[in-house]
Amino acid sequence: MPPSPGGAIVAEDLVKVYNGKVHAVDGVGFAVSPGEVFGFLGPNGAGKTTTVSMLSAGLRPTSGRALIDGLEVSKHALEVKRRIGVIFQESTADGDLTGRENLEVAAGTYGISRAEGNRRTEALLDQMQLADAADRFAKTYSGGMRRRLELAVGLVHRPKILFLDEPTLGLDPQGRAGFWTFIQKLRDETGLTVFVTTHYLDEADSMCDRIAIIDHGKIVATGSPNELKDRLGGDVVTLKTAEGAADMSAVLKLLNGVVSLQKQDGSYRVKCASGETLVPLAVEACARAGAGVTGVIVKRPSLDEVFLEYTGREFREEEGPSATDRAVMMQRVRGALGGRR
Ligand SMILES: Nc1ncnc2c1ncn2[C@@H]1O[C@H](COP(=O)(O)OP(=O)(O)OP(=O)(O)O)[C@@H](O)[C@H]1O
Ligand SMILES: [Mg+2]
Repeated sequence: MPPSPGGAIVAEDLVKVYNGKVHAVDGVGFAVSPGEVFGFLGPNGAGKTTTVSMLSAGLRPTSGRALIDGLEVSKHALEVKRRIGVIFQESTADGDLTGRENLEVAAGTYGISRAEGNRRTEALLDQMQLADAADRFAKTYSGGMRRRLELAVGLVHRPKILFLDEPTLGLDPQGRAGFWTFIQKLRDETGLTVFVTTHYLDEADSMCDRIAIIDHGKIVATGSPNELKDRLGGDVVTLKTAEGAADMSAVLKLLNGVVSLQKQDGSYRVKCASGETLVPLAVEACARAGAGVTGVIVKRPSLDEVFLEYTGREFREEEGPSATDRAVMMQRVRGALGGRR
């Protein structure tokens, strides 16, 4: 197969409207190069899982096109499925099968011969450090083991492109680090292309070559983590004033070096060239205007700031139970039931 025009994964003006009214994905476009790790970030309900489903032949777009390796997904679903591995947000391992059986069944569904399937199964169990637990029912696995098993299942047919929807959700820091070490090794050794949605911005920052931020079904920013941070153009100072103090927005905006200002529930988020220089000026100006500053935070931009800048929301804003919340809850329930079913 010749190299794909435009990239390993291409989204062209993808749209998904559920039930004729929920515009879950609203004109999304991007191209992911072969071997790239591409992060897809956004608040709950932004349209991440819906996008992954359209790219991975799980859901038909309302309009627009998805291409995998140059193949249009809706026209070549089977071909596409052979080239991709998908780790879904919600757990998909069959708890009533052992780890080894989960892998053997997966190999069978791809038409891999029994002998070859067995070889790959043993190799993957080893790689994922599941060999010792291979003959236990998957429902007795810890969250981390289950994720490693699901990753192994997603890799059994040696895909060129891997979709990971919240792959490290609910894992402890050690589990997350281990998972990523494995993905990076795989990418370095095989040139795997990785498309990942995550709620962990630090993870996206250190692991992704490029990132797209999606909000309300639309991409609001794309770039490497450093480009996105640089684009913010300086530090972010958050100032809190005493309760009942007058609005200091106008006073703060006039200070030297201030790029922009947002007021949020009694505190001010000020973007400026240098936080160190701004803080004394701001404290003095507020005091002169009769408002004592009661708290100051200076931050060099991180992806959290980038996210806040583009979505106007803290990353972990409470929005009621979402798919992500449900997945976490389900994981806890499963954990509580583990071994007793
Ligand atoms: N099958 C469905 N029918 C109707 N609406 C849906 C369906 N699936 C998702 N939605 C809605 O589409 C929007 C996008 O959902 P999606 O699951 O793609 O978001 P997400 O970014 O993956 O969120 P999360 O971070 O919670 O996983 C939400 O408003 C959601 O309620
Ligand atoms: Mg989701």
